[in-house]
Amino acid sequence: MPHLFSPLTIKNITLRNRIGVSPMCQYSSDDGFPNDWHLVHLGSRAVGGAGLVIAEASAVEARGRISAEDLGIFSDQHIEAFQRVTDFIKAQGAVPGIQLAHAGRKASTYAPWKREDYGVNLPDDDGGWEVVGPSAIPFSEKYRTPQELTVEGIQEIQEAFRQATIRSREAGFQWVEFHAAHGYLAHSFYSPLANERNDQYGGSFENRLRFTIETVRVIRSEWPEDLPFTVRISSSDWADGGWTLDDSVELSKRLKAEGVDLIDCSSGGNTPNPNIDVGSGYQVAFAEKIRQGADIRTAAVGLINEGMQADDHIRNGRADLVLMAREMLRDPYFPYRASRDVHQTEKLDIPPQYDSASTVMGTLCALFLCITPDVSNIYPQWTE
Ligand SMILES: Cc1cc2nc3c(=O)[nH]c(=O)nc-3n(C[C@H](O)[C@H](O)[C@H](O)COP(=O)(O)O)c2cc1C
Repeated sequence: MPHLFSPLTIKNITLRNRIGVSPMCQYSSDDGFPNDWHLVHLGSRAVGGAGLVIAEASAVEARGRISAEDLGIFSDQHIEAFQRVTDFIKAQGAVPGIQLAHAGRKASTYAPWKREDYGVNLPDDDGGWEVVGPSAIPFSEKYRTPQELTVEGIQEIQEAFRQATIRSREAGFQWVEFHAAHGYLAHSFYSPLANERNDQYGGSFENRLRFTIETVRVIRSEWPEDLPFTVRISSSDWADGGWTLDDSVELSKRLKAEGVDLIDCSSGGNTPNPNIDVGSGYQVAFAEKIRQGADIRTAAVGLINEGMQADDHIRNGRADLVLMAREMLRDPYFPYRASRDVHQTEKLDIPPQYDSASTVMGTLCALFLCITPDVSNIYPQWTE
């Protein structure tokens, strides 16, 4: 029976354990480029023992950023900067992932700490831009009204996903996730709450899925067959008349048929005040139902903060992988702590720099050198 510290193999990639760092926007980029902040933020969680480290929502075109400070992979110049991050993550034994995103009608906002109320529209005279969506319905009165995408406009965005997939591969990512959740572009197409189109991209269930399925095909066509490809969905809109868990099971069956390896089961984000029943592991039931109903691997995410809790979800077959966000911000070394909690310390290699056994040896060596009058015979190079 797999547990939290069992490896997970998908295609040619093996995660050393079932703990992943969930994508988290850092609002710290200039023109989409990852910088020292991203290297340290993502790198330290790889050092901390996570099996998978997924970089935040990375926009496939500049217009698809939530804020001007979002990460992006919309030009070839971004590749080298990401490579530095992926090299470091791999060197720590973790797998680097990227979440490819387009914010759609929720784009062009201030970074959260720039304004008190999150999601405030970034106006034109402060660097804002026109946003797009399936229909001209704003997310809320604080957001811009999107321009309804034409079919040509949809194809241009899908081409941007293609280019971003190629760049992700070249940047050394080994895991790609399509962000189709949280009210961003793909979710706003499949949810009836944001899509009032009456062409082939709106109306019926099949038509509302079309944007997501087509984009998945585009990504799949450029992403190597031997690397994992996952999709984050909002499993429920938590709103009357909205997207439901049963819809998610149906969508997941289709995504599996398109070659998607795992569904990352989040929820909400498509209405300003959803009626979410927040509590311990409140989205895990989504991962469990989709895993069973669509016969596909799932990741559980949302208020999973304890080792035993995370282990329980894996052991009892509710999910194949646990993704964690806020607890990873509080403690990048959560996997080490969890390995003690669930009695699996031998399953997680501690970096030699941090290993208590080698630290003790180092202290003893230093002590020995201090009390030895002439070390030149022992370490001649130190006295040259
Ligand atoms: C600071 C922060 C930034 C986030 N950015 C993203 C993101 O880029 N993409 C995404 O899909 N979810 C994002 N999320 C949601 C998390 O990935 C996760 O699904 C959510 O926080 C629930 O997990 P938790 O209870 O472990 O925090 C973000 C969450 C936080 C706290």
